[in-house]
Amino acid sequence: MPTSIFKKLNGNFHGQNILSSEQFSRNDIDIVIKATDKIKKIVKKNGSCDILKGKIMSALFYEPSSRTFGSFVAGMQKLGGGFIPFQNMDNSSAAKGESLKDTIQVFASYSDIIVMRHPEIGSMEIANEATDIPIINAGEGIGEHPTQALYDIYTIKEAFKKLDNLHIVFFGELGHYRPVNSLVKLLALYPVKISFISPPEGKLNPKIKKYLVENNVSFTEGSDIAPVINNADVLYVTRIKKEFMPSQLYKKLQGRYQLNKNLVSQMKKKNIIMHALPRTDEINPEVDEDPRAVYLKSQVKNGMLVRMALLALVLGKI
Ligand code: CP
Repeated sequence: MPTSIFKKLNGNFHGQNILSSEQFSRNDIDIVIKATDKIKKIVKKNGSCDILKGKIMSALFYEPSSRTFGSFVAGMQKLGGGFIPFQNMDNSSAAKGESLKDTIQVFASYSDIIVMRHPEIGSMEIANEATDIPIINAGEGIGEHPTQALYDIYTIKEAFKKLDNLHIVFFGELGHYRPVNSLVKLLALYPVKISFISPPEGKLNPKIKKYLVENNVSFTEGSDIAPVINNADVLYVTRIKKEFMPSQLYKKLQGRYQLNKNLVSQMKKKNIIMHALPRTDEINPEVDEDPRAVYLKSQVKNGMLVRMALLALVLGKI
């Protein structure tokens, strides 16, 4: 029987889908962190291992990707497994009109796990219903991107040695940004304070706001970063998701918010600046060399390690 899209993990990853941050408890996050620490040591010592020898991952990307695709493919190889890479489904029989359900059934017969990115909300559910093999959500429209959120959480824990009592500020367009949706659902498990700073036309998705209210998360919304920047522990900058919005809205939002050295100078000394990447103009490159900027450093490196841990956990090998 295919598993429910929101099936809680309850400490058991083997054979399960990873489709939403809502599946995770604090204990599940601890399991991912511990598994990632283990993988990190293996990679540091030996570069690779063969715990997934004989396993095949299908990477089916119906939307462009650099990091997610690259890190899953690299991670699978470092674990000794093989992969079927479709970074552009226009080169698959999807371009001839094959349905998502049929495509999933076909690749499920060649592989042990499917990692899929798709622009439409509901696509993960279709994939889940089409097969019994585990599906990992590598980004679904303006919905969720749970593996991004897991390595963001890992990066925050690495920097602060804790996840409790932090102030996380999200800065930029928020209504179409799936990494924020998934990360705040994980943060909702901890006593944290969240500030959402966005243009009025790019406010947090109302469904996510409702989720936070229902889970008693302390948060505020605003359009001016000045009142919060000096006490942010984590400043998480977002890209305007041009690909998911009408061009009129994009024109309105373009260039409205940019993190620059002047804003960074108002931040605490112990703080981190994050971004899921790709970045366009929302962080001036002059910020990149600041030691607090982790987006091109630990955050991106942790992406591969956390995804390796997830592959090993779901395939029951760690
Ligand atoms: N952060 C992220 O998902 O990047 P890609 O779109 O390049 O995979």
